[in-house]
Amino acid sequence: MGAGRHGDLFLENRENCLQDTVPSMTTTPGPTRVPRSMALYERATQLIPGATQLVSRRPNRTAYGVSPVYAQRARGARFWDVDGFEYIDWMSGIGSILLGYADPEVDEAVRQQISRGTVYAVNHELEIELAEELCRSIPCAEMARYAKCGGEACAIAVRIARGVTGRDKILFCGYHGWHDWYLAANLSEEANLNAHLFPGIEATGVPRALAGTALPFPYGDIAALGELLDRHRGQVAAVIMEPLRSVMPAPGYLAGVAQLAREHGAVFIFDEVSTGLRFSMGGAQQHLGVTPDMAVFAKSMSNGYPMAAIVGKREVMEPSARMFISSTYWSDTIGLRAALTTIREARRRDVPSRLWQLGAELKRRLNAVAQEVGLDAQCEGVDVHPQLHFAVAEGQLAGYVTTLYIQEMAKRGCHGYASFYLNAAQGEAELAQTTHAARETFAFIRDALHTNSVKQALECPVQQDAFRRLVR
Ligand SMILES: Cc1ncc(COP(=O)(O)O)c(C=O)c1O
Repeated sequence: MGAGRHGDLFLENRENCLQDTVPSMTTTPGPTRVPRSMALYERATQLIPGATQLVSRRPNRTAYGVSPVYAQRARGARFWDVDGFEYIDWMSGIGSILLGYADPEVDEAVRQQISRGTVYAVNHELEIELAEELCRSIPCAEMARYAKCGGEACAIAVRIARGVTGRDKILFCGYHGWHDWYLAANLSEEANLNAHLFPGIEATGVPRALAGTALPFPYGDIAALGELLDRHRGQVAAVIMEPLRSVMPAPGYLAGVAQLAREHGAVFIFDEVSTGLRFSMGGAQQHLGVTPDMAVFAKSMSNGYPMAAIVGKREVMEPSARMFISSTYWSDTIGLRAALTTIREARRRDVPSRLWQLGAELKRRLNAVAQEVGLDAQCEGVDVHPQLHFAVAEGQLAGYVTTLYIQEMAKRGCHGYASFYLNAAQGEAELAQTTHAARETFAFIRDALHTNSVKQALECPVQQDAFRRLVR
């Protein structure tokens, strides 16, 4: 960026941008365990603003200088990093992998598709086949549109809701991507996302004219949502939310949200980008027995190939035929073929049931190990998305203990946060290795806590949690 007006603005705005993006290598005390990863990261910082394309892939989200930053290849439940270490991926490609890496069925279907061309001047029947498949399995789905990423699909859903209702305001609960409609929440005085979700992220670059158009509501508080809807009566186009992450909603809560949204004439949307096909073949909505007007799927639906779907009831979806929502690559047959094959394979292999069993067993073993070594830690949450909690009195120390956990598990070949994204390639070998690693790691943390040496035991800065989640 040159000098002058734009340069000045740039410098001013730069102060407002995400601050923690690029810690220098000098913040790693001592020699790094993953020198090739860190060298690549250093190269990336020179060429790629923020170094990575997704905040969750920044090295300061895990154990900086200890955890892998760059992968070389992956297969099944595991990946290999550029330093030659092998890991179980307990993040499942940040949720995008459902069947396992390099799934033979999906990859073969994609290979065959590639040999027939991937995108044409005209359409491909796969678009219709996938829509039929989605409408068969997802309760709210009567029509479907496609996109490539979760945030993009959320933006389309919001556009449709605004178009259908002729209203502007969006009430949301959860993380819904990077687009203007959503970050607009941070334009208002109260800095909504700052307080609730994304501390440190400013709405830099988002038009100020959007202030007051996106308003968060707290999960689980039906009265708060009712008040918000009353205050903005007749102006709310959509209530969009993550139905849950790891904690089951209170009985009747989501049905109550649906009822309130409909009473106020707002489109009720589930963002199922993260829940996806893990809960059931019909998404979390089928598992929970609450049917929204629209839903957004991405990540798990195509086993890692870029693909997203916006599905919903005919009366909401149909009018979008007259809205300008259009892009060349949404017809790309690689994503369509990958999604169709992933969904069919997930059904054939009964993947959701397997994930429920796997998660239950993972929780059981980790809780048994915590008890065995005498560490006050619990693995809780819904079985398909377990979360580890370390009971440490001092709030500040919690971040250190979680980082210590990530650090020690990484050294033992387990990559992840203190929560687990499951996939169908994970099995007994992964459970056994993880239990063994956790036994040693928990004992290490227990000893560090007893001797007041948690901070000294850390070989990296404290992990920076990307989100303070609205939906747990
Ligand atoms: C619930 C939810 N919505 C939207 C998104 C954004 O998806 P993407 O990163 O594919 O744009 C995510 C990503 O983590 C998500 O978890």
